[in-house]
Amino acid sequence: MSAGQRPRLPHLQPGEVRVAPSILSADFGALAAEIAGITPATDWLHVDVMDGHFVPNLTIGPPVVASLRRHTQLWLDCHLMMTNPGELLEAFANSGADSASVHVELGQTEQLCAEMRRLGLGVGLVVNPETSITSAWPFLELIDLLLVMSVHPGFGGQAFMPEAIAKVAAARQEIDRRRLPVTLQVDGGIDATTAVVMAEAGARCFVAGSAVFHRPDHLGALRSIHEAAASAVAGPGAAGR
Ligand code: DX5
Ligand code: ZN
Repeated sequence: MSAGQRPRLPHLQPGEVRVAPSILSADFGALAAEIAGITPATDWLHVDVMDGHFVPNLTIGPPVVASLRRHTQLWLDCHLMMTNPGELLEAFANSGADSASVHVELGQTEQLCAEMRRLGLGVGLVVNPETSITSAWPFLELIDLLLVMSVHPGFGGQAFMPEAIAKVAAARQEIDRRRLPVTLQVDGGIDATTAVVMAEAGARCFVAGSAVFHRPDHLGALRSIHEAAASAVAGPGAAGR
């Protein structure tokens, strides 16, 4: 099934949360089995694309996404840690990516968002730890997904940066103030504990790599993150939707 034929995933309803396991921490030699193992508990898969320039690590590109597409119906949420994502957006779309997220630090955000939209990709924008969250404000009307990094991008298994909590809270406020259908996603050091903190700050989509794939029971770990985040959203301390 090509990207164009795939159904678009509806935005999260109020109170809903989503956990997107990051395959960066999975066994790359057994990806299909790793993905099949977590599929009962999610509808998204986070695909970390690193180019060795924007970040000091090198991972996967469109051919691997095309292989994944043949093995799964999960939403392929491609996080492009690339200096020149515009050069490969079409290749990712043709490979069956469902959404792509580009970093605001690159500039040319409007053009990149327009190109993703033209290609039928969900449109994501990423903000690094050292970047002000307000740098995303001019683009909120253009995007479907706002990703706040809670580690420096490049590697899995890093410690959660608490500085990201206030950025998520500010983003939640701005998205709600403008009543936008933008999903607020967090990525880096997310487990069942930090997911709660981020859910209370207003995040609704949680990327988790090592807290899923480096645990003996991947499915159980994924479910526990989902349950923790969902309870936090349902609880009295949670912000927004
Ligand atoms: C980091 C990646 C993350 C990473 C998260 O550059 O963007 O998606 O896989 O890994 P954990 O959950 O282990 O911090
Ligand atoms: Zn990521």
